[in-house]
Amino acid sequence: MAQFHCRWRNVFICLCSPCICVAILLCYIMIMVCISMNSTSTPGIHSLNKVHFVASGTLRNKSYAPIAKTFWDLKMNKRGFWNKLQHAVDVQFNPILHLNNTKRKSVNIESLLKQSFSEVADSDSGRKHFAVLSEPMQEFVRYMQRRDYPSIIQPDGVCGAGAKDEKEPPLLLLAIKTTELNFKNRQAIRHTWGQAGWQAGHEMNSSGGYIRRVFLLGKEDPEILSVDVSPLLRMESKHYGDILQWDFQDTFFNLTLKDVLFWNWFSSHCNKTLFVFKGDDDVFVNTPKMITYLQNELNKPHAHKTMKDFMIGNVIDAAIPERNSLSKYFIPDSFYTGLYPSYGGGGGVVYSSLLTRRLHLTSKMVHLYPIDDVYVGMCMERLNTYPIHHPAFLRNGLTLTPSTTRHFSHLTFLRRKEMSCVHITQSY
Ligand SMILES: *[C@@H]1O[C@H](CO)[C@@H](O)[C@H](O)[C@H]1NC(C)=O
Ligand SMILES: *[C@@H]1O[C@H](CO)[C@@H](O)[C@H](O)[C@H]1NC(C)=O
Ligand SMILES: *[C@@H]1O[C@H](CO)[C@@H](O)[C@H](O)[C@H]1NC(C)=O
Ligand SMILES: *[C@@H]1O[C@H](CO)[C@@H](O)[C@H](O)[C@H]1NC(C)=O
Repeated sequence: MAQFHCRWRNVFICLCSPCICVAILLCYIMIMVCISMNSTSTPGIHSLNKVHFVASGTLRNKSYAPIAKTFWDLKMNKRGFWNKLQHAVDVQFNPILHLNNTKRKSVNIESLLKQSFSEVADSDSGRKHFAVLSEPMQEFVRYMQRRDYPSIIQPDGVCGAGAKDEKEPPLLLLAIKTTELNFKNRQAIRHTWGQAGWQAGHEMNSSGGYIRRVFLLGKEDPEILSVDVSPLLRMESKHYGDILQWDFQDTFFNLTLKDVLFWNWFSSHCNKTLFVFKGDDDVFVNTPKMITYLQNELNKPHAHKTMKDFMIGNVIDAAIPERNSLSKYFIPDSFYTGLYPSYGGGGGVVYSSLLTRRLHLTSKMVHLYPIDDVYVGMCMERLNTYPIHHPAFLRNGLTLTPSTTRHFSHLTFLRRKEMSCVHITQSY
C-alpha cells in the first residue's frame, strides 16, 4: 500500500512541476509587461527628457536627435589616445557628476589639460601609439596643446566687415574658412552670397537683416609655396577689411584651431551679432532665404529660451571614424575609439551667438581633435546638446534637381564642387 502511494506521488510530481514552472514564468512576464507599460505612460518620465528647441523645417526624430549616453561613463574602457586624454578631463568637469560645481572651480583647466596630456603621452602605450601614427597626425599631437596663436591680421569693423551705419544689431555673421591662395573663392563670395551690409529677406513681407563677413585664415608656409603672398593678403585686408588671420600653419589638421580661435574672437568682438554661419569657401548659400528663416526663428514666442542650443546643419549622426588609411580623414583606432557624436558636416552650419559663447567656454575643457566638424560635435556633446538636421543643408555631391529645389524651400545650400572623398562612413 505504501509503495502504491509512493508511485502515485512520483507521477504527480512529474506532471505538475512543469506546469508550476510555466505558471511562474507567465506571472513574471505579465509583471514585466505591466511595469514597462506603466513606465511609458508615467508623465514624470517624459518631463525628465531634455527640452530642446525645434527649428522650423528641421528634422527632429530619433535618428537625428540622440542624447549622448556613453559620454557619462565613469569607467574608461576605450583605448584610443584621444579618448584617454579626454576622459581625465571629463571626469573633472562632467556636469552631471559635479552638479554643484565645487570641483570645477578648484581645478585649473589649463593645468588639467596639460597633466592629462603628459600622463597619457608619456606612458608606454602612449609612446607606442604615437610611433605608429602618420606624420601629419604626429605633428598634430606634438602641437595639440597649443592654441594661443596670436592674430596677424584683424578685420576693420567691430565684428567683421559690415555696413558703417547699422540701424539694428547684425543678424548674421558669415565666418568663412579659407586659405591665403583662395583669393578667387573669396572674391566670388564677396560678390555673390556673402555681401556685407543690409540684405533683404526672401519673402516680400519678411524683414531683411544686416550681414557681416569675416574670412578665417592660417598662414601658408612661404618655403613650400615658394612665394610669399602675405603682402597681397595685407592689401586685400586693407581693401575689404574682412580678413582674420592667425599665426599658425594652415594645414588640414590645424583647421580646428580656426573654430576655437574664432569662438574666442567672437566672444570678445561680437556682442550684438545674433547668428553665425560658419562654412567653407567652396559652398553656396542662399542668403535671403537664410535671413528670412532666421527672422522667423527669432519671432517665435519662446525664441530666447531655445537660442542657447540653436545649431542647424547637415547633421551626421553616430558616424564611424574613417578607418581607410588613404583618406585624408583617416583616424586610426588607436587614436580614437568609438563613434563620433552628432555633428554638422558638409561645409557649413548656422548657430546662435549665445551658443558660440558657450562653445567658447566649453572648448577650453576639450582637447583639440584633428577633424574640425567632429570637434564642434564633441563640444556640443559636453554642453549636453546636439545640432539639428535641416534638409536645406545639402549633402556633399548632391545635385539640385527641380524636385529637390521645391523640397529645400527654406534655404538652399550646396557645395560647388564634389568632395574627392566621402567624409566618414555613415551608419543610420
Ligand atoms: C527621421 O529622419 C529621417 C531622415 O530624413 C527620415 O528618413 C525618417 O523618415 C524620419 N523618421 C520619422 C519617424 O520621422
Ligand atoms: C556638493 O558639495 C558638497 C559639499 O559642499 C559635497 O559634499 C557633495 O558631495 C557635492 N555633490 C556633488 C554631486 O558633487
Ligand atoms: C508673408 O506673406 C505670406 C502670404 O501673404 C504669409 O503666408 C507669410 O506668413 C508672411 N510672412 C511673414 C514673415 O509675415
Ligand atoms: C599647426 O600649426 C603649428 C604652428 O604653425 C605648426 O607648428 C604645426 O605643425 C601645425 N600642425 C599641423 C598638424 O600641421
